[in-house]
Amino acid sequence: MQSDKIYELLNKTLFTWPQHSSDKFTIGDSFEGVQIFGATGSGKTSGSGKHIAKSFLKNGYGGLVLCAKPSERKTWEAYIKNAGREKDMVIFSPGRRSFNPIAYEQQRFGKGAGETLNITNLIMSLNNLARNFMAGEGGENGSEKFWENAVQRAISRMIDLLKLAGEDLSIMNMREVIVNALTKENAEQFLQINNIMNDPESGDADINIAFEKLQLMQEDNYCLRCLLKAIERDDLTTSQENARSLVQSYFFKEFALLSERTKSIVIEQFLGLIAPFETGLLQKQFSSEISDDLWPELTYEEGRIIILDFPVKEHLIAGVYAQGLYKFIFQQAMERRDTDKEENPRPCFLWVDESHLFMNPVYDALFQSTARSSLCATVLLSQGINSYYAAMGSSRSESRTKSLLMNLTTKIFHASNDHDTNTYASDLIGQDFREMTSIQRKHTELGQATLAEHLFPKVFPHEFTMLEKGGDKSNGFKAEAIIFKSPSRGWSTKETYLRCKFAQRD
Ligand SMILES: Nc1ncnc2c1ncn2[C@@H]1O[C@H](COP(=O)(O)OP(=O)(O)OP(=O)(O)O)[C@@H](O)[C@H]1O
Ligand SMILES: [Mg+2]
Repeated sequence: MQSDKIYELLNKTLFTWPQHSSDKFTIGDSFEGVQIFGATGSGKTSGSGKHIAKSFLKNGYGGLVLCAKPSERKTWEAYIKNAGREKDMVIFSPGRRSFNPIAYEQQRFGKGAGETLNITNLIMSLNNLARNFMAGEGGENGSEKFWENAVQRAISRMIDLLKLAGEDLSIMNMREVIVNALTKENAEQFLQINNIMNDPESGDADINIAFEKLQLMQEDNYCLRCLLKAIERDDLTTSQENARSLVQSYFFKEFALLSERTKSIVIEQFLGLIAPFETGLLQKQFSSEISDDLWPELTYEEGRIIILDFPVKEHLIAGVYAQGLYKFIFQQAMERRDTDKEENPRPCFLWVDESHLFMNPVYDALFQSTARSSLCATVLLSQGINSYYAAMGSSRSESRTKSLLMNLTTKIFHASNDHDTNTYASDLIGQDFREMTSIQRKHTELGQATLAEHLFPKVFPHEFTMLEKGGDKSNGFKAEAIIFKSPSRGWSTKETYLRCKFAQRD
């Protein structure tokens, strides 16, 4: 049941829409999500974006900001300074602070912490990010799904192996395990040695030779060393014992017996996935420890505003991985939040400009559908609907996009020349009856006029191309937009949409 405290919070007004002083945007509206569309230079960032961002900061929201452009950090620093929130600002940038996502998954509080499945999902989420960055190349046809499952199984067994062996669970150790995974010959040799060593009939000399062979084998094979450490353990719980049999079966049989081609594809795919973590930015700042002020929970506990200053325009795929991973972890932390137990639940926001670059096709819509109960406001900014289709993979991209957009209930459309986005907007806004007169006449006669009602779009697609863009002194630096939402009380204009002009220089 919703408490009075939450009810009050949800109904608090954040701002009124420009030129419409009785049309409010409440904190509750913010949790239902905002999507801002518009061509480049239409005023998404400096118009409606700024209007919303400032209201979040003024009202004490904690939050996370992803940066696509190098200018983004400065923009947010200025907003934060303006709102007097400097003490809450945490800038995570090259050479400053570090965050190891795997260590976080192991150390965080709450259900599922350190579970193999969650860590595997985290690493597999890199797959989506890489695909988005390549503008949706590939997809989920049968063969891709097969390889994805194969890599997922390998990752999950590597994680269990490292855990059972008591080794550090790091990307680099996972790499060592897979590149040293036993071959068919290794596995057979190990089996023979093992038989000799465990056979009561074996003589001391045979056992010694077998032991030496085993020493030699494991000396240069990290995977085998881990397996032996795991096998030696006698302190395992039942579920750990189950995990150990799966791991043994995988590395001594299943993986070892795979054809060379299959094996090399799985290894290649895994190495491709983690390659950015082997050097540079991700190796330095995403593979070591976790800086104290980068725990995502601090956004709602203390109102921190974390800016991920790894602009994609500069850092390319490394910037996408760094920010996409942190975003995923932040969203999960929000979902784990138990607002009933918080004395003064603090609203939070997730701000994603160029949102198509950081999309998780399945999880984002799921997150958004429960964001209201986590008190998290998502604001996505992107040029148009086609960037989303491309980011959602080749199968069901349209339905996935629309399901995400359905859960972002406030949609702001700035000037755009993208036909699909404009048609989508016009369709959402709907149609109404308009009177149309037609006159039928022959050229010698006066003719007969007929008045009939026809259905027409309330806003035609081409009208979105004519909205005023920002940066124009002659209109007082205003960026025009059409807002679509179905507010519970309806707009004061009695329409399904609202036209606004956002001042860029406020
Ligand atoms: N404070 C400001 N005063 C006047 N003009 C501005 C201001 N901020 C931005 N502009 C101009 O307004 C236009 C819109 O800029 P803005 O960055 O908001 O566009 P955008 O829709 O976010 O574009 P993009 O997709 O490239 O990020 C640009 O021409 C920009 O130069
Ligand atoms: Mg922008």
